[in-house]
Amino acid sequence: MSTVVIVGSQWGDEGKGKVIDYLASEADVVVRGQGGNNAGHTVVVGDKKYALHLIPSGILNKDAVNVIGNGVVFDPEGFLKEIDNLQAQGVDTSTIVISDRAHIVMPYHKVLDRLAEEARGTEKIGTTIKGIGPAYMDKVERSGIRICDLINEPVFEAKALAQIEAKNKIISAIYGGEPLNAAEIIHAYKSFAKRIRPFVQDTSVIVYDAVKANKKVLLEGAQGTLLDIDFGTYPYVTSSHPISGGFAIGSGIGPNLIEEVIGITKAYTTRVGKGPFVTELDNEIGDRIREAGHEFGTTTGRPRRCGWLDLVIVKYAARVNGMTCMSLMLLDVLSGFDKLKVCVGYTHKGNRINHFPADLNVLAECEPVYVEIDGWNEDISHCDTYESLPVQAQKYIELIEEEVGVPVKIVSVGPKRSQTIIRDRIYRD
Ligand code: GDP
Ligand code: IMO
Ligand code: MG
Repeated sequence: MSTVVIVGSQWGDEGKGKVIDYLASEADVVVRGQGGNNAGHTVVVGDKKYALHLIPSGILNKDAVNVIGNGVVFDPEGFLKEIDNLQAQGVDTSTIVISDRAHIVMPYHKVLDRLAEEARGTEKIGTTIKGIGPAYMDKVERSGIRICDLINEPVFEAKALAQIEAKNKIISAIYGGEPLNAAEIIHAYKSFAKRIRPFVQDTSVIVYDAVKANKKVLLEGAQGTLLDIDFGTYPYVTSSHPISGGFAIGSGIGPNLIEEVIGITKAYTTRVGKGPFVTELDNEIGDRIREAGHEFGTTTGRPRRCGWLDLVIVKYAARVNGMTCMSLMLLDVLSGFDKLKVCVGYTHKGNRINHFPADLNVLAECEPVYVEIDGWNEDISHCDTYESLPVQAQKYIELIEEEVGVPVKIVSVGPKRSQTIIRDRIYRD
């Protein structure tokens, strides 16, 4: 049995796509378990760069089955565009399967996402406007439409009509927005359904059978721990569970079948959207990290906020995910700094805080406690063994391992597959 979960240990965009692509070369099944096309995973293969949103990052390895699990909110239009783009780039997309239980994103979800953000004024969450929050709201409220409904024409037509009428009332009465045209939406979704039907299966069975047959199953996280609806910086979070526990539900297997939890950890910290950020560098150091790390969103193109590595966050992620190891990403971006700071704790009104607080008012008042260490000047993007890294880079990694109490099994020194140092095997035989 070899079931591995990839989770983001910060605010998303840690480089999960790269590690998933790397580990997918050995995997039999790759599974997305939550979120939707709010995710943006960049995978670089040779000279080609792929931006993946809804489709698992295992798609570039032709031997793995790529599952879009029941916990995902599935945008049919976005999916078909992504498929078309991949096919135009010569990628085989026949390995995709979609859960019949996944909920679909409808046009009114996107409209309501935008209208709710506009209504928040200065208190915007900064969502991706992909309709994710409203789609999960409907799921929990029990008025969602699932893939099994989408591919059943009369059922879909009845459910969609009722929902569009209901949502139009909200759109016009509460937000003063333009009502949507039901006939146009239903017509478009019927044609999406025809293309989507061949991909649809009961994916929980596929994942379970693969685990039981001792196959290598890679559960592909999207977003990150601090975007989790329970454990993130609420309300500046997404509407799902990106932590490892979300996978049992989102892929339909028991939690006891998950063995290894890899926390994908950026060597510094970034976030998009609003909310307190204790180690933020709103200065030329932050600008330098943003430029060196090309820190602009894959989904929205927004510049990402940058700061020093915050190990209070990573320790918290290690706890709530049950992280068994880490993959340290974008270490090459930190080359050339004389000194590097790493946050190992917070103080709040003079008192030391060691655990990430729930209350954002407290978080906003926290001051970072830094450890400062010497940096390194060498370009490390060609290093292919741990020993070939400069001693100072090794010290940086060892400081992280010591503080978090979890080993760094993978070190990434560039966006390409080849720029990956594996210190220890991930899958068990
Ligand atoms: P994800 O959402 O967690 O998959 O991460 P994103 O793809 O949104 O953002 C990570 C960015 O860093 C992408 O542009 C990757 O190509 C890039 N990347 C990943 N690993 C490394 C690395 O080790 N070094 C550098 N320089 N870039 C990397
Ligand atoms: P990947 O998988 C970074 C953020 C949005 C916003 C908040 C809510 O690429 O790491 P939503 O549209 O989900 O309702 O937006 O969550 N967000 C992400 N930030 N990486 C992501 O995914 C994200 N997915 C959502 O920016 O602050
Ligand atoms: Mg991303």
